[in-house]
Amino acid sequence: MALRQILKDGDPSLRKVSRPVTKFNDRLMMLLDDMQQTLAESGGVGLAAPQVGVLRRVVLVDTGEQGIIEMINPVITHREGEQEDLEGCLSIPGKYGIVRRPQKVRATYLDRDGNECEIEAEDFVARIVCHETDHLEGTLYIDVAERMLTDEEMQELEQKRGES
Ligand code: NI
Repeated sequence: MALRQILKDGDPSLRKVSRPVTKFNDRLMMLLDDMQQTLAESGGVGLAAPQVGVLRRVVLVDTGEQGIIEMINPVITHREGEQEDLEGCLSIPGKYGIVRRPQKVRATYLDRDGNECEIEAEDFVARIVCHETDHLEGTLYIDVAERMLTDEEMQELEQKRGES
């Protein structure tokens, strides 16, 4: 396993549409392993392959209790309700925005063995699924955010974090 560099906003790879995975080979296993390590190191809750410069439809999503799931060729098949909350991105460090997302989503995907899987996600995990699958279309949350936090709001947020 190896750490991969996370590309930052401004890199053209983040703006491209990723291609579906067709081969479940060693190269894919290595990508998944490297993404796992890179995500763990970053302290983030999700990571998409284009963020490490690989334009393939692969994302990792931290589901909390069920750990990190690897989603290959994910497709959101159902969206329900609405929620608004803070969102950030490993490719846009130090910034946060308010983003409206569905309260609940269902998505199909393949696991690393090529098995067809389905996930039903709510609340925070639904947000991550949406955020990461957006990356596969070259979309960043700053494109869809209601608004970004002001410097003052950022300072307040950091203060709160420092206290807790
Ligand atoms: Ni992101």
